[in-house]
Amino acid sequence: MKIFHTVKDLQQAMASVNGNVGFVPTMGALHKGHLSLIDKARSENDVVVASIFVNPIQFNNPDDLAKYPRTLEADCALLERTGCDIVFAPSEEEMYPEGKDVAFENDIAGKLDFGMLDKVMEGAFRPGHFNGVAVVVRRLFDIVKPTVAYFGKKDLQQVSIIRCMVLLLKLPVRIEICPVVREFDGLAISSRNTLLTHEGRIVAPQIHRILSEVIATGGSVEFVKSRVVSELEDYFKVDYFEIVDCETLKSVPAFWIVGGCDEAGSGCSGGQATNGAGSGCSGCGSGQATACVAVWLGNIRLIDNLNVSLKLGANTELSCSERKSA
Ligand code: PAJ
Repeated sequence: MKIFHTVKDLQQAMASVNGNVGFVPTMGALHKGHLSLIDKARSENDVVVASIFVNPIQFNNPDDLAKYPRTLEADCALLERTGCDIVFAPSEEEMYPEGKDVAFENDIAGKLDFGMLDKVMEGAFRPGHFNGVAVVVRRLFDIVKPTVAYFGKKDLQQVSIIRCMVLLLKLPVRIEICPVVREFDGLAISSRNTLLTHEGRIVAPQIHRILSEVIATGGSVEFVKSRVVSELEDYFKVDYFEIVDCETLKSVPAFWIVGGCDEAGSGCSGGQATNGAGSGCSGCGSGQATACVAVWLGNIRLIDNLNVSLKLGANTELSCSERKSA
């Protein structure tokens, strides 16, 4: 495995690469979630490239940026073991030679109109976050020139933004979405989990437990939302809990009926079913919605999501076309 820190060195190496390039952008502090993306890229491509860059312009909270774990050496060891070929780990100056603030203000990707995709949920609570993500991902795509790029459904809204950017800028890259990888107790794996206190780590799996149990019990969307929020509030400060259409990220109507979790199905693949099992609707990837949550545990912010099946009423499955026109 080769490690490059400059655009010039990386591009020199990429010039002699033949075949499909699978790319996994990361901010490091790698864990099983990241490695699942590397695994998938490895199984589908001739060459696998990973990037490690803690992108300052996507952090709207300076404290969060300062606290973000940086573990380059351990990350590279994990990547090598997982079959990655090339690591790109640039400095801030290398990614933003004009200065990060100028890049944030002027880069074309930061000025795209994502409609409501960057206004709801994470967008509402982290202003500017997705502009910063779009800027760095476009630059990384431009530098690496991947055939396919792999992203985790853990950050569902990030995937929507990137897919939208690829469409708007007509970027020659395919986007693949990989399922959420969880700890044994259901906690979605995240680099931020390492920042949890011992007590926090014991409480954090309540997010997945509450979502799974309440959604499995069912009821109207309105009922499920209020019950999830009230149960979460026993443990966390809740930023939001929404049940949204996985493509448009629009809240689904409050009177629809939640018919259970749908993690085994093709799930919410945002139009490109990649999770294998399940019978997805070709129009929307799944015919399902996604329950998305963000909470605070002390000063650590955690996000998660779960596929949800919807019905119009008892024994009435909502088809994709009905769902779209409702
Ligand atoms: P980072 O948080 O390091 O995540 C890198 C990739 O790993 C993202 O696509 C994320 O969705 C995926 N990922 C994280 N946890 C996961 C889990 N438990 N299961 C499956 N996939 C998981 O997301 C970013 O970095 C940055 O915003 C980035 C895209 C690199 C731009 O800076």
